[in-house]
Amino acid sequence: MNSDRPFRLGVLGSGKGSNFVALAEAIAQGVVPAEVAIVLSDVEDSGILAQARARQLMARYIAPGKFRTKLDEEAERAYVSALQEARVDLIVLAGFMRVLKGDFLRAFEGRIVNIHPSLLPCFPGLEAWKQAFDHGVKVTGCTVHFVDAGVDSGPIIGQQTVPVLDDDTPETLHARIHAAEHELYPRCVAALAHGSIVVRGRRVVWKRGDLVVG
Ligand code: GAR
Repeated sequence: MNSDRPFRLGVLGSGKGSNFVALAEAIAQGVVPAEVAIVLSDVEDSGILAQARARQLMARYIAPGKFRTKLDEEAERAYVSALQEARVDLIVLAGFMRVLKGDFLRAFEGRIVNIHPSLLPCFPGLEAWKQAFDHGVKVTGCTVHFVDAGVDSGPIIGQQTVPVLDDDTPETLHARIHAAEHELYPRCVAALAHGSIVVRGRRVVWKRGDLVVG
């Protein structure tokens, strides 16, 4: 962390924004030594933008362009400029449902993190909690990882386990995974803001010993 100024986050999301809220609350409580510089969404009426505006944070919808699962070139440029102008140190994907590609990844290499609702590398991609439920696993959870050019494939920063109960439905399981995410993501972002994370190839080491495996 640069001690001259706060560690600045750019948060990207497409959905209701509960992970963003957990992060914003952890920041407000002083648990995460950072500030939210900007919140961006590819969904104009998303909850995450409403939550950011309710907190008087800079929040912008940027149209994603013509593709369904990624940003088109013009949109990618607009996202990169907005994040650079906001001078972000870390990009936090909080339910951003588009895959980030080349120029975006190059602009913020090693500085993009994501949260995923399974214990990666199991069940990458969409509706991971439902994939886990349908597979019949007894334990699942959530993962915070660095973003690389693959889908949910970058080095793992932290994981938290969630048991699958006999009377679970995909929805009840999803709700408990969400609750675990709200604990895990602020802890991981705090560690990144403290500069206590070291990446050695695929292995991410927590220098202060605050190991994150739930
Ligand atoms: C979270 O469960 C997150 O793990 C998932 O979207 C949800 C967003 O919820 N992300 C992915 O599946 C990305 N592959 P939120 O908008 O309430 O934070």
